[in-house]
Amino acid sequence: MSIVVRILSLGWVMMMIMSITNVADADISSNLLENIAEINEEGPYLGIVVPKTFELDPLLRSSNFLPHATIPQLDYAGRRFRVGTLENRKVIAVVSGNSMLNSGLATQLLLSLFKIEGVLHFGVAGNVNPQIKIGDVTIPQYWAHTGLWNWQRYGDRPGDALAFESTGDYTRNYGYLNFAKYKVGRLNGKVSDVWYPDNYLNNVWYQPEEIYSIDGEPENRQHIFWVPVNKHYYRLARKLEDIVLEQCANSATCLPQTPKVVTVRRGVSANVLVDNAAYRDFLYSKFKAAPVDMESAAVALVCHQQKTPFIVIRAISDLANGTSFIESSNFSSLAVQNAVKVAVKFITLSLNEMLTLDAAQ
Ligand SMILES: *[C@@H]1O[C@H](CO)[C@@H](O)[C@H](O)[C@H]1NC(C)=O
Ligand SMILES: *[C@@H]1O[C@H](CO)[C@@H](O)[C@H](O)[C@H]1NC(C)=O
Repeated sequence: MSIVVRILSLGWVMMMIMSITNVADADISSNLLENIAEINEEGPYLGIVVPKTFELDPLLRSSNFLPHATIPQLDYAGRRFRVGTLENRKVIAVVSGNSMLNSGLATQLLLSLFKIEGVLHFGVAGNVNPQIKIGDVTIPQYWAHTGLWNWQRYGDRPGDALAFESTGDYTRNYGYLNFAKYKVGRLNGKVSDVWYPDNYLNNVWYQPEEIYSIDGEPENRQHIFWVPVNKHYYRLARKLEDIVLEQCANSATCLPQTPKVVTVRRGVSANVLVDNAAYRDFLYSKFKAAPVDMESAAVALVCHQQKTPFIVIRAISDLANGTSFIESSNFSSLAVQNAVKVAVKFITLSLNEMLTLDAAQ
Protein backbone atom coordinates (compact mmCIF):
# COMPACT_ATOMS: atom_id res chain seq x y z
CA MET A 1 0.00 0.00 0.00
CA SER A 2 1.37 3.44 -0.86
CA ILE A 3 1.86 5.90 1.96
CA VAL A 4 -0.80 8.19 0.45
CA VAL A 5 -3.37 5.38 0.48
CA ARG A 6 -2.43 4.54 4.07
CA ILE A 7 -2.89 8.10 5.23
CA LEU A 8 -6.18 8.38 3.35
CA SER A 9 -7.56 5.13 4.79
CA LEU A 10 -6.44 6.07 8.31
CA GLY A 11 -8.30 9.36 7.89
CA TRP A 12 -11.38 7.50 6.72
CA VAL A 13 -11.31 5.15 9.72
CA MET A 14 -11.00 8.12 12.08
CA MET A 15 -13.93 9.84 10.41
CA MET A 16 -16.00 6.70 10.79
CA ILE A 17 -15.15 6.43 14.48
CA MET A 18 -15.97 10.07 15.05
CA SER A 19 -19.29 9.79 13.26
CA ILE A 20 -20.26 6.65 15.21
CA THR A 21 -19.43 8.45 18.48
CA ASN A 22 -21.52 11.40 17.35
CA VAL A 23 -24.46 9.20 16.52
CA ALA A 24 -24.23 7.50 19.91
CA ASP A 25 -24.09 10.86 21.70
CA ALA A 26 -27.04 12.23 19.83
CA ASP A 27 -29.08 9.10 20.09
CA ILE A 28 -29.24 8.41 23.81
CA SER A 29 -29.15 11.77 25.52
CA SER A 30 -27.32 12.03 28.82
CA ASN A 31 -30.63 12.92 30.46
CA LEU A 32 -32.20 9.70 29.21
CA LEU A 33 -29.15 7.68 30.28
CA GLU A 34 -29.44 9.14 33.79
CA ASN A 35 -33.11 8.24 33.98
CA ILE A 36 -32.44 4.72 32.72
CA ALA A 37 -29.70 4.33 35.34
CA GLU A 38 -32.05 5.53 38.08
CA ILE A 39 -34.79 3.14 36.96
CA ASN A 40 -32.32 0.26 36.74
CA GLU A 41 -31.13 0.95 40.33
CA GLU A 42 -34.64 -0.02 41.42
CA GLY A 43 -34.80 -3.13 39.22
CA PRO A 44 -35.03 -5.86 38.20
CA TYR A 45 -38.31 -5.57 36.34
CA LEU A 46 -40.67 -7.88 34.58
CA GLY A 47 -40.74 -6.68 30.94
CA ILE A 48 -44.13 -6.57 29.22
CA VAL A 49 -44.24 -6.49 25.41
CA VAL A 50 -47.60 -5.96 23.68
CA PRO A 51 -48.18 -5.51 19.93
CA LYS A 52 -50.68 -2.65 19.93
CA THR A 53 -51.94 0.11 22.20
CA PHE A 54 -55.47 -1.35 22.30
CA GLU A 55 -53.94 -4.43 23.94
CA LEU A 56 -51.92 -2.48 26.52
CA ASP A 57 -54.42 0.27 27.41
CA PRO A 58 -56.78 -1.90 29.51
CA LEU A 59 -53.82 -2.98 31.63
CA LEU A 60 -52.54 0.59 32.12
CA ARG A 61 -56.06 1.78 33.01
CA SER A 62 -56.70 -0.99 35.49
CA SER A 63 -56.44 -0.21 39.17
CA ASN A 64 -53.75 -2.89 39.41
CA PHE A 65 -51.24 -0.62 37.64
CA LEU A 66 -49.42 2.20 39.46
CA PRO A 67 -47.09 4.39 37.38
CA HIS A 68 -43.63 5.14 38.79
CA ALA A 69 -43.80 8.28 40.97
CA THR A 70 -40.99 10.26 39.29
CA ILE A 71 -40.22 8.50 35.98
CA PRO A 72 -43.49 6.99 34.70
CA GLN A 73 -42.22 6.69 31.13
CA LEU A 74 -39.11 6.87 28.98
CA ASP A 75 -39.18 7.40 25.22
CA TYR A 76 -36.52 5.98 22.95
CA ALA A 77 -36.32 5.05 19.26
CA GLY A 78 -40.01 5.67 18.68
CA ARG A 79 -41.03 3.47 21.62
CA ARG A 80 -42.49 4.45 24.99
CA PHE A 81 -41.30 2.38 27.95
CA ARG A 82 -43.81 2.68 30.80
CA VAL A 83 -42.50 2.07 34.28
CA GLY A 84 -44.63 1.12 37.26
CA THR A 85 -45.88 -1.64 39.48
CA LEU A 86 -48.58 -4.15 38.74
CA GLU A 87 -49.89 -6.05 41.75
CA ASN A 88 -46.70 -4.93 43.57
CA ARG A 89 -44.48 -6.37 40.85
CA LYS A 90 -42.09 -3.89 39.20
CA VAL A 91 -42.79 -3.79 35.48
CA ILE A 92 -41.70 -1.96 32.32
CA ALA A 93 -44.21 -2.20 29.47
CA VAL A 94 -43.71 -1.35 25.80
CA VAL A 95 -45.96 -1.40 22.74
CA SER A 96 -43.90 -2.98 19.97
CA GLY A 97 -46.04 -2.38 16.87
CA ASN A 98 -47.11 -4.91 14.32
CA SER A 99 -45.05 -7.82 12.98
CA MET A 100 -41.83 -9.69 13.58
CA LEU A 101 -39.35 -6.87 12.98
CA ASN A 102 -41.10 -4.44 15.32
CA SER A 103 -41.68 -6.94 18.10
CA GLY A 104 -38.15 -8.34 17.94
CA LEU A 105 -36.69 -4.85 17.91
CA ALA A 106 -38.81 -3.58 20.83
CA THR A 107 -37.94 -6.68 22.87
CA GLN A 108 -34.22 -6.25 22.23
CA LEU A 109 -34.38 -2.54 23.17
CA LEU A 110 -36.19 -3.44 26.39
CA LEU A 111 -33.56 -6.05 27.29
CA SER A 112 -30.61 -3.86 26.26
CA LEU A 113 -31.71 -0.69 28.07
CA PHE A 114 -33.24 -2.05 31.25
CA LYS A 115 -32.59 -4.54 34.01
CA ILE A 116 -35.18 -7.16 33.04
CA GLU A 117 -35.56 -10.51 34.77
CA GLY A 118 -38.26 -11.95 32.52
CA VAL A 119 -40.62 -11.07 29.69
CA LEU A 120 -44.37 -11.45 29.47
CA HIS A 121 -45.83 -11.03 25.99
CA PHE A 122 -49.59 -10.91 25.51
CA GLY A 123 -52.27 -9.90 23.02
CA VAL A 124 -54.91 -11.30 20.70
CA ALA A 125 -54.37 -13.90 17.98
CA GLY A 126 -55.99 -16.03 15.33
CA ASN A 127 -56.40 -19.74 15.98
CA VAL A 128 -55.87 -22.79 13.78
CA ASN A 129 -56.67 -25.62 16.22
CA PRO A 130 -60.28 -26.86 15.82
CA GLN A 131 -60.50 -27.72 19.56
CA ILE A 132 -59.96 -24.11 20.56
CA LYS A 133 -62.70 -21.50 20.33
CA ILE A 134 -62.91 -17.76 19.94
CA GLY A 135 -62.46 -16.15 23.36
CA ASP A 136 -60.18 -18.88 24.74
CA VAL A 137 -56.84 -17.72 26.10
CA THR A 138 -53.92 -19.85 24.89
CA ILE A 139 -50.49 -20.26 26.49
CA PRO A 140 -48.20 -22.28 24.19
CA GLN A 141 -45.12 -24.17 25.30
CA TYR A 142 -43.25 -23.64 22.01
CA TRP A 143 -43.21 -20.91 19.37
CA ALA A 144 -41.88 -21.08 15.84
CA HIS A 145 -41.36 -18.46 13.16
CA THR A 146 -43.06 -19.94 10.11
CA GLY A 147 -42.08 -17.20 7.69
CA LEU A 148 -38.46 -18.08 6.93
CA TRP A 149 -38.67 -20.10 3.71
CA ASN A 150 -36.56 -21.74 1.08
CA TRP A 151 -38.59 -21.62 -2.12
CA GLN A 152 -37.75 -24.66 -4.20
CA ARG A 153 -37.02 -24.55 -7.92
CA TYR A 154 -39.83 -25.68 -10.22
CA GLY A 155 -39.38 -29.34 -11.12
CA ASP A 156 -37.52 -30.33 -7.94
CA ARG A 157 -39.18 -32.88 -5.65
CA PRO A 158 -39.16 -33.22 -1.83
CA GLY A 159 -36.34 -35.76 -2.25
CA ASP A 160 -34.12 -33.16 -3.92
CA ALA A 161 -31.72 -31.00 -1.91
CA LEU A 162 -32.65 -27.32 -1.55
CA ALA A 163 -30.47 -24.48 -2.81
CA PHE A 164 -27.57 -23.99 -0.36
CA GLU A 165 -28.73 -26.95 1.76
CA SER A 166 -25.33 -28.61 1.39
CA THR A 167 -23.60 -25.62 3.03
CA GLY A 168 -25.74 -26.03 6.17
CA ASP A 169 -27.83 -22.91 5.60
CA TYR A 170 -31.11 -24.67 4.86
CA THR A 171 -32.84 -27.87 5.85
CA ARG A 172 -35.75 -30.13 4.91
CA ASN A 173 -36.37 -31.11 8.56
CA TYR A 174 -39.51 -29.06 9.22
CA GLY A 175 -41.62 -29.70 6.17
CA TYR A 176 -42.99 -27.78 3.25
CA LEU A 177 -46.08 -26.28 1.71
CA ASN A 178 -46.86 -27.58 -1.77
CA PHE A 179 -48.82 -24.96 -3.65
CA ALA A 180 -49.93 -27.40 -6.34
CA LYS A 181 -52.05 -29.25 -3.76
CA TYR A 182 -54.18 -26.19 -3.23
CA LYS A 183 -55.51 -25.68 -6.74
CA VAL A 184 -59.10 -24.65 -7.13
CA GLY A 185 -60.49 -27.73 -8.86
CA ARG A 186 -58.87 -30.98 -7.79
CA LEU A 187 -57.56 -34.01 -9.61
CA ASN A 188 -60.63 -36.19 -10.34
CA GLY A 189 -62.58 -34.03 -7.91
CA LYS A 190 -60.70 -35.09 -4.76
CA VAL A 191 -57.74 -34.04 -2.65
CA SER A 192 -54.95 -36.57 -2.94
CA ASP A 193 -51.27 -36.98 -2.32
CA VAL A 194 -50.72 -37.61 -6.02
CA TRP A 195 -47.90 -35.37 -7.13
CA TYR A 196 -49.11 -32.39 -9.15
CA PRO A 197 -46.18 -31.21 -11.20
CA ASP A 198 -48.10 -28.49 -13.02
CA ASN A 199 -47.67 -25.48 -10.75
CA TYR A 200 -44.61 -23.29 -11.09
CA LEU A 201 -44.77 -22.26 -7.42
CA ASN A 202 -43.69 -25.80 -6.38
CA ASN A 203 -42.75 -26.00 -2.65
CA VAL A 204 -41.68 -23.64 0.11
CA TRP A 205 -39.73 -25.31 2.92
CA TYR A 206 -39.92 -23.94 6.46
CA GLN A 207 -36.56 -22.96 7.91
CA PRO A 208 -35.25 -22.58 11.46
CA GLU A 209 -33.97 -19.15 12.52
CA GLU A 210 -30.30 -18.43 12.77
CA ILE A 211 -29.53 -17.23 16.30
CA TYR A 212 -26.55 -15.91 18.25
CA SER A 213 -26.53 -16.73 21.93
CA ILE A 214 -25.57 -14.03 24.44
CA ASP A 215 -23.14 -16.41 26.16
CA GLY A 216 -21.87 -18.05 22.99
CA GLU A 217 -18.89 -17.17 20.82
CA PRO A 218 -19.80 -13.97 18.89
CA GLU A 219 -20.73 -14.63 15.24
CA ASN A 220 -21.04 -18.33 15.97
CA ARG A 221 -24.49 -19.14 14.67
CA GLN A 222 -26.93 -21.78 15.89
CA HIS A 223 -30.32 -22.73 14.49
CA ILE A 224 -33.68 -23.13 16.21
CA PHE A 225 -37.23 -23.68 14.98
CA TRP A 226 -39.34 -24.51 18.06
CA VAL A 227 -38.42 -22.05 20.79
CA PRO A 228 -39.50 -23.23 24.27
CA VAL A 229 -40.97 -20.77 26.76
CA ASN A 230 -39.42 -20.78 30.22
CA LYS A 231 -40.17 -24.09 31.99
CA HIS A 232 -40.83 -22.50 35.33
CA TYR A 233 -43.20 -19.86 33.81
CA TYR A 234 -45.01 -22.59 31.87
CA ARG A 235 -45.52 -24.60 35.05
CA LEU A 236 -46.99 -21.48 36.69
CA ALA A 237 -49.20 -20.94 33.61
CA ARG A 238 -50.85 -24.32 34.15
CA LYS A 239 -52.21 -22.92 37.41
CA LEU A 240 -54.04 -20.25 35.39
CA GLU A 241 -56.31 -22.82 33.77
CA ASP A 242 -59.02 -22.41 36.43
CA ILE A 243 -59.44 -18.65 35.97
CA VAL A 244 -63.06 -17.85 35.14
CA LEU A 245 -63.18 -15.66 32.01
CA GLU A 246 -65.82 -13.24 30.78
CA GLN A 247 -68.25 -14.61 28.20
CA CYS A 248 -69.86 -11.36 27.02
CA ALA A 249 -68.33 -8.24 25.46
CA ASN A 250 -71.59 -6.42 26.30
CA SER A 251 -75.19 -7.43 26.88
CA ALA A 252 -75.72 -8.01 23.13
CA THR A 253 -72.46 -9.77 22.16
CA CYS A 254 -71.79 -13.02 23.96
CA LEU A 255 -69.75 -16.06 23.05
CA PRO A 256 -71.82 -19.24 22.64
CA GLN A 257 -69.70 -20.95 25.34
CA THR A 258 -67.72 -19.93 28.44
CA PRO A 259 -64.15 -19.26 27.26
CA LYS A 260 -61.28 -21.01 29.02
CA VAL A 261 -57.55 -20.62 29.64
CA VAL A 262 -55.64 -23.44 27.94
CA THR A 263 -51.97 -24.33 27.92
CA VAL A 264 -51.21 -25.67 24.45
CA ARG A 265 -48.20 -27.23 22.81
CA ARG A 266 -47.43 -24.79 20.01
CA GLY A 267 -47.99 -21.37 18.47
CA VAL A 268 -46.65 -19.97 15.20
CA SER A 269 -45.88 -16.45 13.96
CA ALA A 270 -44.86 -14.86 10.67
CA ASN A 271 -45.21 -11.57 8.82
CA VAL A 272 -48.44 -12.90 7.38
CA LEU A 273 -51.99 -12.08 8.40
CA VAL A 274 -53.72 -15.44 8.02
CA ASP A 275 -57.38 -15.33 6.99
CA ASN A 276 -57.51 -18.33 4.68
CA ALA A 277 -59.14 -21.68 5.45
CA ALA A 278 -56.69 -23.78 3.42
CA TYR A 279 -53.59 -22.24 4.98
CA ARG A 280 -55.20 -22.44 8.42
CA ASP A 281 -55.77 -26.19 7.98
CA PHE A 282 -52.23 -26.60 6.68
CA LEU A 283 -50.74 -24.82 9.75
CA TYR A 284 -52.67 -27.12 12.04
CA SER A 285 -51.99 -30.36 10.20
CA LYS A 286 -48.29 -29.60 9.62
CA PHE A 287 -47.34 -27.92 12.89
CA LYS A 288 -50.15 -28.79 15.34
CA ALA A 289 -50.24 -25.13 16.27
CA ALA A 290 -53.06 -23.32 18.07
CA PRO A 291 -52.55 -19.53 18.09
CA VAL A 292 -51.21 -17.86 14.96
CA ASP A 293 -49.96 -14.28 15.09
CA MET A 294 -47.34 -11.89 13.75
CA GLU A 295 -45.13 -11.22 16.81
CA SER A 296 -44.80 -13.89 19.50
CA ALA A 297 -42.07 -15.98 17.85
CA ALA A 298 -39.93 -12.84 17.42
CA VAL A 299 -40.23 -12.03 21.13
CA ALA A 300 -39.43 -15.69 21.83
CA LEU A 301 -36.36 -15.70 19.57
CA VAL A 302 -34.92 -12.55 21.14
CA CYS A 303 -35.51 -13.74 24.73
CA HIS A 304 -34.09 -17.17 23.92
CA GLN A 305 -30.86 -15.69 22.53
CA GLN A 306 -30.58 -13.29 25.47
CA LYS A 307 -31.28 -16.14 27.94
CA THR A 308 -34.19 -14.18 29.46
CA PRO A 309 -37.16 -16.23 30.73
CA PHE A 310 -40.36 -15.48 28.83
CA ILE A 311 -43.97 -16.56 28.40
CA VAL A 312 -46.70 -15.68 25.89
CA ILE A 313 -50.42 -15.31 26.58
CA ARG A 314 -52.62 -14.94 23.49
CA ALA A 315 -56.40 -14.66 23.53
CA ILE A 316 -58.18 -15.91 20.42
CA SER A 317 -60.15 -13.22 18.61
CA ASP A 318 -60.67 -14.97 15.27
CA LEU A 319 -60.35 -18.31 13.48
CA ALA A 320 -57.96 -17.18 10.71
CA ASN A 321 -60.12 -18.84 8.06
CA GLY A 322 -62.19 -16.35 6.20
CA THR A 323 -64.37 -14.45 8.64
CA SER A 324 -61.62 -12.89 10.75
CA PHE A 325 -62.73 -9.34 10.23
CA ILE A 326 -66.28 -9.88 11.50
CA GLU A 327 -65.21 -12.17 14.33
CA SER A 328 -62.52 -9.89 15.61
CA SER A 329 -64.68 -6.80 15.36
CA ASN A 330 -67.17 -8.59 17.65
CA PHE A 331 -64.77 -10.21 20.06
CA SER A 332 -61.39 -8.49 20.11
CA SER A 333 -62.26 -6.24 23.06
CA LEU A 334 -63.48 -9.26 25.04
CA ALA A 335 -60.35 -11.18 24.03
CA VAL A 336 -58.11 -8.30 25.19
CA GLN A 337 -59.98 -8.04 28.48
CA ASN A 338 -59.47 -11.77 29.10
CA ALA A 339 -55.82 -11.69 28.02
CA VAL A 340 -55.19 -8.84 30.49
CA LYS A 341 -56.98 -10.75 33.25
CA VAL A 342 -54.77 -13.80 32.68
CA ALA A 343 -51.62 -11.66 32.39
CA VAL A 344 -52.33 -9.91 35.72
CA LYS A 345 -52.95 -13.27 37.39
CA PHE A 346 -49.68 -14.60 35.98
CA ILE A 347 -47.84 -11.58 37.40
CA THR A 348 -49.39 -12.11 40.84
CA LEU A 349 -48.60 -15.82 40.84
CA SER A 350 -45.02 -15.28 39.72
CA LEU A 351 -44.48 -12.63 42.40
CA ASN A 352 -45.84 -14.93 45.12
CA GLU A 353 -43.60 -17.69 43.81
CA MET A 354 -40.55 -15.41 43.96
CA LEU A 355 -41.36 -14.39 47.53
CA THR A 356 -41.76 -18.02 48.53
CA LEU A 357 -38.44 -18.87 46.89
CA ASP A 358 -36.72 -15.93 48.62
CA ALA A 359 -38.18 -16.97 51.97
CA ALA A 360 -36.94 -20.53 51.45
CA GLN A 361 -33.36 -19.38 50.80
C1 LIG B 1 -63.54 -21.82 10.12
O1 LIG B 1 -63.30 -22.73 11.17
C2 LIG B 1 -64.43 -23.00 11.98
C3 LIG B 1 -63.99 -23.86 13.16
O2 LIG B 1 -63.23 -24.95 12.77
C4 LIG B 1 -65.54 -23.63 11.15
O3 LIG B 1 -66.67 -23.86 11.95
C5 LIG B 1 -65.88 -22.68 9.99
O4 LIG B 1 -66.83 -23.29 9.15
C6 LIG B 1 -64.63 -22.36 9.20
N1 LIG B 1 -64.95 -21.34 8.20
C7 LIG B 1 -64.55 -21.42 6.93
C8 LIG B 1 -64.92 -20.28 6.05
O5 LIG B 1 -63.89 -22.36 6.51
C1 LIG C 1 -70.90 -10.27 14.86
O1 LIG C 1 -71.16 -9.04 14.22
C2 LIG C 1 -71.90 -9.16 13.04
C3 LIG C 1 -71.95 -7.84 12.33
O2 LIG C 1 -71.98 -6.77 13.24
C4 LIG C 1 -73.29 -9.74 13.39
O3 LIG C 1 -74.07 -9.89 12.22
C5 LIG C 1 -73.10 -11.08 14.06
O4 LIG C 1 -74.34 -11.61 14.48
C6 LIG C 1 -72.18 -10.98 15.25
N1 LIG C 1 -71.91 -12.32 15.77
C7 LIG C 1 -72.03 -12.65 17.06
C8 LIG C 1 -71.78 -14.08 17.40
O5 LIG C 1 -72.32 -11.85 17.91
